[in-house]
Amino acid sequence: MTICSPKKSPMGVSYSLPRSISSILLSIGGLAVFLLFGSCVLVSHPIGSAVQAYFLSVDPFGKPALFRQSNARTDGHGEAVVIQTFAMSNGRNPLLSSVNASNDSPGLNSGANDGNFEDASAPITSINPNNTKAVDGGSCDLYHGKWFYDPAGPLYTNNSCPIITQMQNCQGNGRPDKEYEYYRWKPSQCDLPRFDGRKFLKLMRGKTLAFVGDSVARNQMESLLCILWQVESPKNRGNRRMQRWYFRSTDTYIARIWSSWLVHKTTDAFGFAPEGMDKLHLDLPDETFFDLLPQFDVVVLSSGHWFAKRSVYIHKGEIVGGQLWWPDKSRPMVVDNVKAFGISVETILTAISTHPNYKGLTLVRSYSPDHYEGGAWNTGGSCTGKTRPAEDSEVAENGFTKAMHGRQVAGYEAAVRANNGSSIVLMDVTGAFGYRHDGHPGPYRSLDPNKKTQRGPHGEPPPQDCLHWCMPGPVDTWNELLLETVRREFEGGGGGRTV
Ligand SMILES: *[C@@H]1O[C@H](CO)[C@@H](O)[C@H](O)[C@H]1NC(C)=O
Ligand SMILES: *[C@@H]1O[C@H](CO)[C@@H](O)[C@H](O)[C@H]1NC(C)=O
Ligand SMILES: *[C@@H]1O[C@H](CO)[C@@H](O)[C@H](O)[C@H]1NC(C)=O
Ligand SMILES: *[C@@H]1O[C@H](CO)[C@@H](O)[C@H](O)[C@H]1NC(C)=O
Repeated sequence: MTICSPKKSPMGVSYSLPRSISSILLSIGGLAVFLLFGSCVLVSHPIGSAVQAYFLSVDPFGKPALFRQSNARTDGHGEAVVIQTFAMSNGRNPLLSSVNASNDSPGLNSGANDGNFEDASAPITSINPNNTKAVDGGSCDLYHGKWFYDPAGPLYTNNSCPIITQMQNCQGNGRPDKEYEYYRWKPSQCDLPRFDGRKFLKLMRGKTLAFVGDSVARNQMESLLCILWQVESPKNRGNRRMQRWYFRSTDTYIARIWSSWLVHKTTDAFGFAPEGMDKLHLDLPDETFFDLLPQFDVVVLSSGHWFAKRSVYIHKGEIVGGQLWWPDKSRPMVVDNVKAFGISVETILTAISTHPNYKGLTLVRSYSPDHYEGGAWNTGGSCTGKTRPAEDSEVAENGFTKAMHGRQVAGYEAAVRANNGSSIVLMDVTGAFGYRHDGHPGPYRSLDPNKKTQRGPHGEPPPQDCLHWCMPGPVDTWNELLLETVRREFEGGGGGRTV
């Protein structure tokens, strides 16, 4: 099934406007430039009751490009994008729900439902972190647990970190609530320690950590830099191929390489696919990062959302499918975007684990859930107004996220089975972060004093980003998970290593 097929959209209300925007953008075409998930949600509109399409943009070096409906700016690096995703909501108003401590005790969760994020139990509770086991054993499952309110607050502020991308600087952009900065993740069986910058740098002495992937990778990298900035200001040693920061005290580099899909991409004509369109070779890794692997000791991979973008899928020299593109209806499409994502994950991880000169630790950060929730923009869609993590009853099941996560885990497992001794760890954040509908910039994605932040008179939500994460915010937890995984690997203790 082609989950993102536009054919599924009822030609209904409000479809014509975004449709015309999309054709304008696409006709800007080959030159232009309008990258995905960079940051900016241009339009958010529902199609029928369960599908939403939105536009996002970013440039490959992570600088957000702001697009407006009538005024798409292009910078020569981006591409036009239409993303469609399923987003279903139970339609509850989170503001009416209590976030009182539940009776659940962290120890009571079995934590045995691995791999099935739907079952992850993660209500918000008040937990006394002092009363729980320390992580030292290193074998505890970090991804089943709960969010709890921690009065200690965030690891940095918008004022103490100088490199927050404006689109993620929610406080700086006027977001009025702050509670979302105070929730921390508590695995059921152990504690996830608060990030210790000195400890991280010591573990990474003489080493390089690279984030590879899309704008969500950039989001995590900047979070890590902000956290580390509190103990040491790094030097910018970036170059054209990668953004790179140097921490002198421990001779540590934090790097980032842009790779939208992680697989090899071409735009030349191929078979019946015309020149100019992105063609993804699902069986070949993206050379832009793959060739650089030997320089790295730890690699964090981030991908997925670009599979909603228009593209052609090629596997073993044949066109096997396409996203928002399939001209020849008489041929069956073998690979839809969800399957393509799974294949790409297996390809990358297999290639990494058999790379002759890379013996580092690889983390696969699982699909980052977005929260364009609600059936329609005038009946409660969007993430506007979410100020606390969701409770179990409020978590909106998102069919697309679930399908993507399922394929990603399967691709990961297949690669690990065939693995030859390198360390590949799945950072399975999808379930836990499904609860963090409060952690996105929403309408607070720019400094513009005139931006819309409230619903309009007919209930239509303001333009918003419900995909990236505010900084400070939940994304900082990814780096606590990263530190814990690196610690387990480098200090021993087991549990971090999958192989
Ligand atoms: C939530 O907690 C407050 C104070 O602890 C209490 O007064 C209130 O009744 C609780 N609400 C619910 C729904 O349990
Ligand atoms: C946890 O321990 C710290 C230090 O021992 C203490 O200051 C804090 O009050 C404790 N927290 C709770 C909730 O008991
Ligand atoms: C940080 O946020 C506050 C509002 O909480 C704002 O006044 C301040 O200008 C922001 N600083 C930066 C550098 O964005
Ligand atoms: C696995 O590693 C061994 C020894 O390092 C090597 O000889 C072998 O070719 C590798 N197998 C694969 C499939 O990479």
